[in-house]
Amino acid sequence: MARDDLQTAPVNGAARSSGAVIAAEHGTRSSAIAGAEPGAGARGAAQAAAGRWLHHHVLDLDDFSRDEIEYVLETTDAMREVLARDVPRVPALRGTTVATLFYEASTRTRASFELAGKVLGADVINVSASGSSVEKGESLVDTVRTLRAIGVNILVMRHKSSGAPYLAAAHTDAAVLNGGDGWHAHPTQALLDLYTMQSRLGSLRGRRVAIVGDIAHSRVARSDIWGLSVMGAEVVLCAPPTLLPAGLGRRVQTEQEEVALPGVTIEPQIERALRGADVVMTLRLQHERMHSGLLPSLREYSRRYGITSERVALAAPHALVMHPGPMNEGVEIAPDVARSVQSVIEEQVTNGVAVRMALLYLIGRGA
Ligand code: CP
Repeated sequence: MARDDLQTAPVNGAARSSGAVIAAEHGTRSSAIAGAEPGAGARGAAQAAAGRWLHHHVLDLDDFSRDEIEYVLETTDAMREVLARDVPRVPALRGTTVATLFYEASTRTRASFELAGKVLGADVINVSASGSSVEKGESLVDTVRTLRAIGVNILVMRHKSSGAPYLAAAHTDAAVLNGGDGWHAHPTQALLDLYTMQSRLGSLRGRRVAIVGDIAHSRVARSDIWGLSVMGAEVVLCAPPTLLPAGLGRRVQTEQEEVALPGVTIEPQIERALRGADVVMTLRLQHERMHSGLLPSLREYSRRYGITSERVALAAPHALVMHPGPMNEGVEIAPDVARSVQSVIEEQVTNGVAVRMALLYLIGRGA
């Protein structure tokens, strides 16, 4: 069957075995799959593969194991092969309805989820808060219930309030994928960041990833910190003190303790933060989430924290320059750096389609 199964898989049952095939062909746990009872065939393999994916929703990466993240990244490899075909369309999610429900602006996340669903053969409908019954006062819960009532199986949601996708998930049996909630989380962005880093650098264990900029208001930074920590990378944060969330830093964590974020290294001096880094990731100033008075001026911020070619030269020679977008060139990143050979910013966007296909596919098998 191999990956051609992605071409022919009609609906959930067959798709389940194709997931196993993807896992068997790409999986680091292939021994578990190979260890399925002789003769059990696709069913045994499917059970082995199903054990690697137990999520009904994807709300953040704080509940993902290393194996689960690796499974998403392996499935993304298979999706990239689908996208490279002459006609990148497969029926793996035929009969599945995906809705994008966005209460906040987006270009990359929304467009790539829409395309990802269509490539996999799902029906995709787009709902924006503006122009929908939200403008007439309909609540989030009623909107989610309404979408479920018309047959939506997978709901991709963006909301300005942290926690909104958790509320939605509590009120529907549709699968909820968080497309970004307030300051809290952006798990699909983090997964595409991890995929981009791993495809360029290989294993992330021991890699030094410097994240520079407005950490305090960044849902991307939070999800990246979870994902990078699980994958064994060293995370170094560099930001003005007013743009760092409280309580960060390396510390001993007990097994019982629940933490807001895993331990990271804080390095306020940008030259020291970037020295020897394998990845230089910069973030936009999230003005829409900022109280006034957090920065003396944009010019001063850019002078002290902007990513210039001189600063990138302090990182490892192979270092990647990354930005989740949207960028404000000339503020957090110099235009020549954004377009340099070390920049993988457009590659991040491209990989976003395959990563979101992988997530829709894995979720859709059980949705
Ligand atoms: N990185 C990101 O979430 O971009 P959009 O706001 O354009 O979706």
